[in-house]
Amino acid sequence: MSATDYLATFDLVPGYLNWAAFGPISTTVRDEAIRGLEMLGSGYPTSVPTMFEYEGRARELLAELLRADAADVTLHNSSTHGLMQAFYGLTGDVLVSTAEFPAVSLTLHRAAQSRGTALTPRWITPADGRVTPDVIAAALDEDVTAVTVSHVDFRTGYRIDLAALRDAIGPDRLLVLDAVQSFGVVDDDYALADVVVGHGYKWVRAGRGTGFARFNARARERIAPVLSGTTGTTVDGLFVDSLPDPAASGQAYGVSKPDPLAAARLAAGLRDVRDIGVAEIEKLLAKRVDAVIEIADRAGVPVASPRERAQRAGIVVLAPADPARLAQALADAGVTATARGETVRVAPHAGTDDETLRMLEGALMASDHAPFTIS
Ligand SMILES: Cc1ncc(COP(=O)(O)O)c(C=O)c1O
Repeated sequence: MSATDYLATFDLVPGYLNWAAFGPISTTVRDEAIRGLEMLGSGYPTSVPTMFEYEGRARELLAELLRADAADVTLHNSSTHGLMQAFYGLTGDVLVSTAEFPAVSLTLHRAAQSRGTALTPRWITPADGRVTPDVIAAALDEDVTAVTVSHVDFRTGYRIDLAALRDAIGPDRLLVLDAVQSFGVVDDDYALADVVVGHGYKWVRAGRGTGFARFNARARERIAPVLSGTTGTTVDGLFVDSLPDPAASGQAYGVSKPDPLAAARLAAGLRDVRDIGVAEIEKLLAKRVDAVIEIADRAGVPVASPRERAQRAGIVVLAPADPARLAQALADAGVTATARGETVRVAPHAGTDDETLRMLEGALMASDHAPFTIS
């Protein structure tokens, strides 16, 4: 797939800069969803089995992009469901930042509450919110058996170097990686993590219900599949009058048959990502992020997120003197972004058009001037 063909799958009104929250669905995925709906409504004998084949296709594409085995990949309603599979079966001390997205922190806390002394979160609070390999290395001791972290932090935009992270934690501790803000736009070696969770509703543009998880062999040795369901057993198909063991692969972390429409959407989004290549998407996105940072610099709005390409993905954090005024200026200009507390998160994608960037620049410039009032 050429860059031009990929960019043509972005079909949305100008002004959208909130891809870190939700990715407007691509034309490829929309077409697939319509086909799938028609198939499921047709009543043809083959329609339901055909639709259920999308699960396998999505898992194979995920495996290719994660450099993993498709048997170790399961589909879930959300990435939080994948994290539940990891944390509820884990034992030991797990290093985690209090500033993580709550899908990580709260899920780990709930899992620990249900496990007595078997599972203990070891909370860290980095001063600037960035969980770097050095911050992690400094907090490790021999009781820490696992580390969980976001590949790209949703709030600071900081992207951790996976190779440096693996070096810092060593080969024996488990690494549970939340790849929600990186998967599909960051070309890194996801095989360095033992568990990877993500979803397709932001950067892959495949809509909700498209979560996934991958557990490697080491993770499977140490994470009991306590939430394993009917699709996670040694038996392929229906069983009665028996209670089979969990599957010997990552399928053990499956619960029930995934929604075939969600699987079809995910597979369609992933196919585009695979066909153009994550490295190419990352390059295109980096240029748009550069442009956003240049606009902020021209407008004199401080940028709090990393500027170096290796330390960022698609999130730019603005720290204006008057966040409420900037949020209002963005809304007035028809720009969609996330204003939270003292900062405004601006998240372009590879397909963000020039008109959107012009709208952003206009809003940033406007927010620099006091509102006109008649006294
Ligand atoms: C870093 C991170 N992890 C997890 C989630 C939640 O994902 P899900 O809705 O698939 O549970 C988000 C959502 O914004 C996120 O930014």
